[in-house]
Amino acid sequence: MNNVYNITAVILAAGEGKRMYSKLPKVLHKLCGLSMVEHVINSAKEIGCQEPVVVIGHGADQVREAIKDVKFVMQEQQLGTGHAVMQAEEYIIDNDILVLYGDTPLVSADKLNEMYQFHKTGDYGVTVLTADLDNPAGYGRIVRDDMGLIDAIVEDKDANHEIKIIKEINSGMYFFKGVELKKALKKLTNNNAQGEYYLTDALQIIKAEGFGIAAFKTNDPAEIMGVNNRLQLSEATEIMRSRILREHMLAGVTIIDAKNTYIDKTVKISRDVTILPGCILEGRTVIEEDCIIGPNTRIKDSLLDKCVNAQNSIILDSKIGEATTVGPFAYLRPGNVIGKHAKIGDFVEMKNSIFGDNSKASHLTYVGDAEVGKNVNLGCGVVFVNYDGKKKHKAIVEDNCFVGCNVNLVAPVTVKKDSYVAAGTTVTKDVPEGSLSIGRVRQENKEGWVDKLNNI
Ligand code: UD1
Ligand code: CA
Repeated sequence: MNNVYNITAVILAAGEGKRMYSKLPKVLHKLCGLSMVEHVINSAKEIGCQEPVVVIGHGADQVREAIKDVKFVMQEQQLGTGHAVMQAEEYIIDNDILVLYGDTPLVSADKLNEMYQFHKTGDYGVTVLTADLDNPAGYGRIVRDDMGLIDAIVEDKDANHEIKIIKEINSGMYFFKGVELKKALKKLTNNNAQGEYYLTDALQIIKAEGFGIAAFKTNDPAEIMGVNNRLQLSEATEIMRSRILREHMLAGVTIIDAKNTYIDKTVKISRDVTILPGCILEGRTVIEEDCIIGPNTRIKDSLLDKCVNAQNSIILDSKIGEATTVGPFAYLRPGNVIGKHAKIGDFVEMKNSIFGDNSKASHLTYVGDAEVGKNVNLGCGVVFVNYDGKKKHKAIVEDNCFVGCNVNLVAPVTVKKDSYVAAGTTVTKDVPEGSLSIGRVRQENKEGWVDKLNNI
């Protein structure tokens, strides 16, 4: 959005997440193709935070491993949100500090940007993102003075009855003036019901220095929704999923059944693509204009050029050229580069192969570790015999070849260009250019054989 501002994001992600009941640290659980903390990092980056600072603790090694382009600081012991931010002290300078949590994946760059504009316009010491909740139990409450300005944030565990009935809660997300935050962190104590260093106490400290403390209230509870268990993960996924679909639809993609379409955040789709029901589009997939996808098709980490039609198929880590058709019921395993106007028909399995323009494998074919040229026709039941029990080998079928039905190509072997291979042939030797290869037992018809059998 902009990077003329000097914002540093500090993302708290050291907590354990016990209620996930998982070996995986909570913030690494995924929704729509990215981990929770990656969604948060991306929102921060979108508003101009170049390299967010991520505070890690539980499962630190796994988090370090999984996340790129951020700075990590370690919080050995989780002594509270204030203590977590203290670990990032070296990055808190004369800048604006945005504090986020690694487990609130739905916070959007749009909302943060609005909040930042509000923060800067008011020249506040701190702006806190708040919301009114029907059930505010468990959250810190926003206590306002007679003028409606923030007096303090009081934690649920420290609250009396009067405070507990307040519905406005602290989301845990803030913009701070860096200089003031740095001073305030030095003054935090753990003198409270939980014996923790509360970041929320920094607000009163900064207020006492004479700065304005403001609340920026959102009426979209999704923005601040924290994920603590798998049920909430599924609820957050549902919201994220509909946001993604909505964006694609508003950008010119036709999605026939939005209830039944799953698209990762990382997928790119051009306009005038149609997605039929039951599709799952994952990872770094890119789909160019005028493709028709589905029904019931899963595509992962693949690139589909214009006008590809893929139905009832699985496509993994492959590139497919313009106007090629895939399926129904094709299985493209990783590593294929398929040309333009090609046909990968029903019950065709292909892996780690190059398949040229205008070539066809219309039905019941296995193409593995192969190089197939242009204008090649593979008949029904052709098998690239690529495995000798120990090693994989490559077979080559050059341009303009016609390979008949039920042919076995025993790799390594090459069928040179402009050749024919007769149906039923098992090819074990190279076929020279422009030849017919035929290798099968000559047919014999035994007339009257049935009558003899029956002793007539
Ligand atoms: C905090 C706020 C509370 C707010 C609530 C919103 C404080 C004192 N309270 O509550 O006002 O309503 O968030 O969810 O700030 N974390 C660390 N290290 C720590 C402690 C926490 O990294 O030592 C991380 C957690 O992983 C989590 C986030 O900070 O992502 C919030 O921690 P959590 O314990 O859930 O929040 P509370 O302190 O209960
Ligand atoms: Ca806590």
